[in-house]
Amino acid sequence: PLPKPFTGALPIPPRAQPVRSAASADYYRLTQREAAVEILPGTKTKVWGYDGIFPGPTFVGRSGRTMVVEVSNKLSVPTSMHLHGGVTPSDSDGYPTDLLIPVQCGAALRSGAYQGHSGSHGMHVPSGDWKVSEGYKSYEYPLHQRAATLWYHDHRMDFSAPQVWRGLAGMFLVHDDEEEALPLPKGDKDIPLMLCDRAFEADGSFRYPAVSPSCVGTPGVDQAYMDGVLGDVQLVNGAPWPVLEVANTKYRLRLLNASNARRYQLKLETDQCHALRFVQIGSDAGLLSAPQHLDAVPMAPAERFDVVVDFSACPVDTEVLLVNTLADGGMRNVMRFRVTRKEKDDSRIPARLAKDIPLERSASVPVRHFDFRRTNGPGETAMWTINGRPFNSSEVLASPRLGSVERWRFSSDFHHPVHLHLAHFQVLSRGGKQPAASDAGWKDTVDVRPYEVVEVLARFDGYKGRYMIHCHNLEHEDMAMMANFQVV
Ligand code: C2O
Ligand code: CU
Repeated sequence: PLPKPFTGALPIPPRAQPVRSAASADYYRLTQREAAVEILPGTKTKVWGYDGIFPGPTFVGRSGRTMVVEVSNKLSVPTSMHLHGGVTPSDSDGYPTDLLIPVQCGAALRSGAYQGHSGSHGMHVPSGDWKVSEGYKSYEYPLHQRAATLWYHDHRMDFSAPQVWRGLAGMFLVHDDEEEALPLPKGDKDIPLMLCDRAFEADGSFRYPAVSPSCVGTPGVDQAYMDGVLGDVQLVNGAPWPVLEVANTKYRLRLLNASNARRYQLKLETDQCHALRFVQIGSDAGLLSAPQHLDAVPMAPAERFDVVVDFSACPVDTEVLLVNTLADGGMRNVMRFRVTRKEKDDSRIPARLAKDIPLERSASVPVRHFDFRRTNGPGETAMWTINGRPFNSSEVLASPRLGSVERWRFSSDFHHPVHLHLAHFQVLSRGGKQPAASDAGWKDTVDVRPYEVVEVLARFDGYKGRYMIHCHNLEHEDMAMMANFQVV
C-alpha cells in the first residue's frame, strides 16, 4: 500500500562538514555506501547513498574557494560523480567512463566485467577510453562561478538512471558576496526541495525495470521503458508527500527536479491565502537580474528554480498544497505547507538581484545544430540519438573556443531536457518566438519540447577539455543520447 500523504515532516539533509581547511580550499570526505533507511513508514529501503543517506549531504561552497571532495566507493558497482552546473575541470567532471570502482571490483575489472558493455544501444566506447580509480577519487571543484543551486549525482556509463534512482543524488549550494548582501530569506527560511518520484516493491525495496538488477554487466534500462521510468510515490528530500510547518513569512525554496524522467508544472493551492504565488529569484546557474512572478513553475529533469513564497497573507493554521498539475491521482500532490505561527519578517525581495552579464548576440557567433531524436538501432532495438548518432566517446561534435560564445540550436521529437556540462547559457528563442518567462536567467538545462526548436547562447568559460552535452531524461541518457564537445 502507498503511504498516506502529508503525515511525515519534510527532512532537511545534513550539511557536509569539511575534514580540514587550508588558505583557499576546503577538504571533504564522502563515502558511497549501501544503507537501509526508512522511506515508507514501517519498512526499510536499501539505498545507495552518499554517506549512506538519500538525498546525500548538502554541500555548501563559496564562489572562488576550491572544494576538494575525496569520494570513496563502498558500493558493489562502479560510479562516476558529477557536479551538475559546476564549472569544473574535465578530469573532475564525472565523465561516464571515468570510473571510481570499489576495491573489491579490482580483479573483476581487470577481467573486463565492468566495462564490456560498450556497444549497448549502439553506443561506442573504445577500450582505451575507460579510466579507473580504485577505492577512492578526489574531485576538485574550484567554484569560479556565481552563487547558485547546483546538485551532484551519479553519471556512470549505461547506469546513471538506476544508480540515481537508488539514491546517488544530493544538493550543492554555492554562495557569493553579491548574494549574501541581499536581504533574501536566510537560514531556516532557505529550504532545498529535491523533488523526485520512485516506485517500490512490497518489501520496501526500490522498483526499477533494469535489465540487470545488480547494475553489473548488461546495461541499464529495459527497452520497454525507453521513454523514461516513472514512479507512483512522490518524494521531497527523500520523504513521501511530506509536510513543512512554516511561519507566516517569506521562504526561499530551492526547487530541484531530480527525477529520472518526470516533468512538473508546480502550483500552490489554497483557498485561505490571497494571491499566493512564486517569485522566481534564480534559475539553474544563479540569481536572475530581477525577480519575476510565476503562477506556475515548469520543471524538466535536472532544472532548478530558486523561488520565494510569501506566506504573510495566510492566517495561522492555513494549509497550502504544492501540486504538480501535469500528473493526476496521488501523483498530483507534491507536499504541503502548514502555516503554524506568526513571526516578524525582516527579509525582502529586492528589485535588483544579480548583475546582468550581457552576451554577444550578434549574427557573427558560430551556430551549431543538435537534433535529439529516436533512431532505430541494430536489430529490434531503438536508441535515442543526437544528430542521428548514438554516443561515441571518441567522437567530438563541437569544438568551441575557450572564452567564446556560441549559438546552439536544439531540435527534438519528444520532451528532451538538454544539458550542457561546464557551459552556462541563456535561452534566445523557443519555437521561433521569444523564450518563455520560465526560461529566464543563466541555465545549464533547457526543456526542449516535442517538435520544437530552442536556441541558446552558451558561454564556454573555465577550462579546456572534453565535456558532454546530453539529454537529462536519465533513461534517454543511458540509451545513447549523449555527445562530446571539446573546449579548445
Ligand atoms: Cu546532471 Cu551530465 O548531468
Ligand atoms: Cu531525452
